[in-house]
Amino acid sequence: MNAPVTPPAALPPLFLDVTDFEREAQAKLPAMSWSYLSGGASDELTLRWNRESYDRLRLRPRALVDVSQLDPSITLLGRRHSFPLLLAPAAYQGLTHPEADLATVRGANAADVTLVASTFSSHTIEDIAAQAARPLWLQLYIQRDREFTRALIRRAEKSGCEAVVVTVDTPVLGPRNRELRARFSLPPGVERANLRGVANAGGAHRSTEGAIYSALLDPSLTWKDIAWLKAQTSLPILLKGILNPDDAVRAAEAGVAGIIVSNHGARNLDTEPATIDALPEVVAKVGGRLPILVDGGIRRGTDILKALALGANAVLIGRPYLYGLAVDGSAGVTRVINILRREFEMAMAVCGRTSIAEIDATVLWR
Ligand code: FNR
Ligand code: LAC
Repeated sequence: MNAPVTPPAALPPLFLDVTDFEREAQAKLPAMSWSYLSGGASDELTLRWNRESYDRLRLRPRALVDVSQLDPSITLLGRRHSFPLLLAPAAYQGLTHPEADLATVRGANAADVTLVASTFSSHTIEDIAAQAARPLWLQLYIQRDREFTRALIRRAEKSGCEAVVVTVDTPVLGPRNRELRARFSLPPGVERANLRGVANAGGAHRSTEGAIYSALLDPSLTWKDIAWLKAQTSLPILLKGILNPDDAVRAAEAGVAGIIVSNHGARNLDTEPATIDALPEVVAKVGGRLPILVDGGIRRGTDILKALALGANAVLIGRPYLYGLAVDGSAGVTRVINILRREFEMAMAVCGRTSIAEIDATVLWR
């Protein structure tokens, strides 16, 4: 008689790529938090395109190059980054993990990358900076209360932040129906720590029924406010959420220190193009005049290589590190970054590039 077959013990889940973290994060998080984190605007077409456009690009390997020494480091605004990736600002991280932004910054420390802290972080910029091994960048949602905005910049300067990233693509939030269907609201305990003391700071992050405006976003912002902001600080100012190449030209003329080509993770306006599809024309118009960063849909090290091939100086990731945060706190953040870094270095090697300077459009199969 045959011995009864014992089923193999279930293997512990392996976390090998960003998708593994995404799956586990979804399983772990309450539906409401998941809808906020993962959702996009309307039909989520742009959300899909942000990914698909990377998948459509083909890489061109190069054989017999000595790649025994790789240097993926870059210099950005005068500071060395050990590889061309930063963590994008993300609001309300308390929804994702009890240690929120503090776990994120510790995770960033261990992977040696820079965090762009959100205006709507769950801890204050001071508390996050106190844990940061590398100087933070502050993402700024200019508040209607300009005195408060000025004070927040002072606080960022005092905390050792090295850049201000003004988000310019969000006069209003988009119709995030996934969020609305999950009846999203900020649970007690998840606060906008930086906004303590500001009028409306306790309000909803989106408009109430009927209106399109949020109390926390100023829909009247124009280029004049960027000029005003430049006069308020000697920190470099980057504009985040430039997609239109004409806006990129305007940004260069306005003398900002850099731009982030972004569609806000497809959260505000559906059927905008994927950021990687918008990037080439932006680079053609202003490349070389100021650093150009890009975010949206980066889930693989090969995506980073493709973005650099199309002229980006560096990339940012949003959801991927939040998935890591959800799954395993700071260790999960570190792990996600290191996975992307390893994949990126492997791709550099097979494409025969030993430094970032060697990455150009000929990395792509055209
Ligand atoms: C964001 N994003 C964002 N951007 C910003 O300027 N300020 C913010 O507070 C936030 N908050 C935020 C929360 C969450 C949950 C997400 C997913 C995104 C946008 C973010 O900085 C970035 O542009 C995108 O997330 C990049 O796309 P991927 O990497 O998520 O595909
Ligand atoms: C968001 C805002 C707050 O994308 O930036 O949810």
